[in-house]
Amino acid sequence: MKFSLLAACLVHITLAVPSNQEKRDSTKPVVKGTPQVVGILADPSLNRDSCGSSLFGDRALWVCRDTQHYDSDGIPNLPIFTSSASWSDLVTGGGSQLTMYGDNQDNSFYPLVPGNCDDNQAGICSDGTRYPLWANAPPLVTSSDSSGTTTGYTWISNSHISGLSDLIQHPSVALYRVTYTSGASGPPKAELINQAFWAENDIPFGTYGGVVQDDIVYIWGQATGGSVNLARVPVANVEDKSKYEFYVNGGWTTTQPELGDGAATMENASAGGQGTYYFSNHWKSFVWIGQASNSVSADFFITTSPAPEGPWTEPVKFYSGVNGNYSLGAYTLQANPALSLPDSNEIYLTYTKTDAVGDNVALYTTPLILVEWEI
Ligand SMILES: *[C@@H]1O[C@H](CO)[C@@H](O)[C@H](O)[C@H]1NC(C)=O
Ligand SMILES: *[C@@H]1O[C@H](CO)[C@@H](O)[C@H](O)[C@H]1NC(C)=O
Repeated sequence: MKFSLLAACLVHITLAVPSNQEKRDSTKPVVKGTPQVVGILADPSLNRDSCGSSLFGDRALWVCRDTQHYDSDGIPNLPIFTSSASWSDLVTGGGSQLTMYGDNQDNSFYPLVPGNCDDNQAGICSDGTRYPLWANAPPLVTSSDSSGTTTGYTWISNSHISGLSDLIQHPSVALYRVTYTSGASGPPKAELINQAFWAENDIPFGTYGGVVQDDIVYIWGQATGGSVNLARVPVANVEDKSKYEFYVNGGWTTTQPELGDGAATMENASAGGQGTYYFSNHWKSFVWIGQASNSVSADFFITTSPAPEGPWTEPVKFYSGVNGNYSLGAYTLQANPALSLPDSNEIYLTYTKTDAVGDNVALYTTPLILVEWEI
């Protein structure tokens, strides 16, 4: 039986509104009941790794990393494209398959960076190394205008890898603009704006996620093995590096901190792994949900803060999903605020559950989990 997610949300809100604002203590989130796996998000024709969602108009846009078709035995095959985009309506079925749709025409959604082995859609070089162009966060929507055009941005590290080992320790960061006009067929348009918006050995601001609040874009960066740092820029100036400010020593400065600058470290702003920042209207609080550093388990952590600058609470684990049986069983733990109504007291979680099929080929599934909070 199909039911409307929006209708379900309305019911949840009615039940969950606390009697007064004071009871909404976001510093100690408590899960209500037992979160349920609502189903598996999938484009039935594609094996898609590491999906994340953004609200584009009245639909969710899902951008994923490595994407493949299946062979006749259902085993993912070659070629790989480094990213793909698809839509889901804000309506889910009660069944196990939550269908995503949209034709990528077997091209990487984010165009490959010129010079980075871009003669194939996987970014694979003739020496077997690879520029995978893996985004850690979905497009950060910065504006939706009255004519129905939605604009977002994605920062992606120009990683160069051999196997899964980094050949460049602190790669430069490419900036992409993603635009969509309501009614257009197909996925939004992704354009490379600057192939080294942040230079090699800079803090990779934006690659770790971001939030837009009161027309200010807040973006976090986390250097390989390093701390989490914060920058901000007015929504209109995302493409202008000179307009950025950086959070250093408890204040905002126009001087870009160097990698490893302890004064720019944000304490407790995440559990160290990949995740999602968002603003909860219900809690009036900034939220990060994601994975602990070096974890490959579906253990979800949360930390909250009244402001992007902090103070962030100490991250706590609040939900554990089922791990896949591949060597990397679960990663890209994400929160999906786009799927819920703005004031709702719930969050949909996703992660990539990876199982080994055939000759140790990675099969990706994306479970969708509904978490409701007590207050
Ligand atoms: C991080 O969280 C812990 C536990 O709440 C707290 O003791 C510590 O002071 C926090 N760090 C900062 C810098 O706020
Ligand atoms: C891993 O999971 C996949 C998918 O469920 C299954 O086909 C495969 O047999 C499992 N492999 C092992 C070793 O359990």
